[in-house]
Amino acid sequence: MPIVAVVSQKGGVGKTTLTLNIGYALAERGWKSLVVDTDPQGGIGLSIGPSAARSQGMAAILAAEVAAAEAVLTTRHANFHLLPTGHVGAAQRLDWGEVLDRRLADVIFDLAANYDVVLIDTPSGLDGPTLAAIKVADAVVSPLQSEPLALRSVTQLIETLAYLRSQGLHKPLAALIPTMVQTRVDASLGVTQEAFRLFPPDVVLESFVPRDPMFLRASQHGVPIALTARRPPPVATVFDRIAAELEARIGLLSEEESYEPIPLLD
Ligand SMILES: Nc1ncnc2c1ncn2[C@@H]1O[C@H](COP(=O)(O)OP(=O)(O)OP(=O)(O)O)[C@@H](O)[C@H]1O
Ligand SMILES: [Mg+2]
Repeated sequence: MPIVAVVSQKGGVGKTTLTLNIGYALAERGWKSLVVDTDPQGGIGLSIGPSAARSQGMAAILAAEVAAAEAVLTTRHANFHLLPTGHVGAAQRLDWGEVLDRRLADVIFDLAANYDVVLIDTPSGLDGPTLAAIKVADAVVSPLQSEPLALRSVTQLIETLAYLRSQGLHKPLAALIPTMVQTRVDASLGVTQEAFRLFPPDVVLESFVPRDPMFLRASQHGVPIALTARRPPPVATVFDRIAAELEARIGLLSEEESYEPIPLLD
C-alpha cells in the first residue's frame, strides 16, 4: 500500500486542503484511505471539526499514551479514516521533529497494513517533521501554488529529493499539483505553463485546483469540499480527476490498469 507525503517548502500553499480532499476522493473511488497529520499545528485537526480537535491523535501516540490504531478516527465514509495531530504540549513541540524521525516509521507501518493508501500531511519546510514523513513515504506529492516564486520553492524540493537520493533514499516526486489557479489571471496561468515547460511531462498533473472561495467555507466547516453541501460546488469534482491521475503515479494501479475499462457487471 503506497504511503504518500504531501510536502512543500512554503507555508499556506494548499497542502492540508489537498491531503484531505485527495484522501476523501480516493476513498470515494473505492480505496481504503488514511490521512495522517504530522503538523504540530494540526492542520487536519483544525479543518475537520471538533471531534478531531479532541482526538488524542499523533501527539498521544508519540507520548506512548495510546496505541496507534486507537487514535485513528473513523468518519461517515467507511473508506476514509483520519489520524489528527491532537494536542501537542510545549515540551513535546520542542522535539516533535526528532521524535517523529525516530518513531513515525513504526506508527505508519503499524497502521498501513489496514489501508490501501496512506497520505501524510506535513508542516511547511523540508526539514524536521516533513523530512521524517518523506523518509517514511514511498512517494512525494507537492502543491504548486500558482503564484510567482512558487517555482523557486519547487526547485528546493527537487534539490532535497536529489540529495536524499544521493544518500540512498529514493523518494520520487509523484506529482506537482497546480493549485489556487486563477484561470482568468495571466500571471497565475503563467506559473502553471512555466512548470509544464520546466519539469518532465510526468511530473505536473494535468488536473488542477482552481482558486475558489468555497475552500474557505470547507475549512470553516471542517470538511472535504465534497461535503460542504448536499449539492456540492462544481470545484469538488476536480479531486476525483486528481485522484484518478494519481492512482497510477503513486502505485495504486499500474499505468496499463489505469486505462482499462471498469466492468459494469461483476
Ligand atoms: N484552491 C484554493 N482556493 C482558495 N483557497 C484555498 C485553496 N486551497 C487552499 N485554500 C485556502 O488557503 C489556506 C491555506 O490552505 P492550506 O491550509 O491547505 O495550506 P497549507 O499548505 O496546508 O498551509 P500550512 O503550511 O500552514 O500547513 C486555507 O485557508 C485554505 O482554505
Ligand atoms: Mg497545512
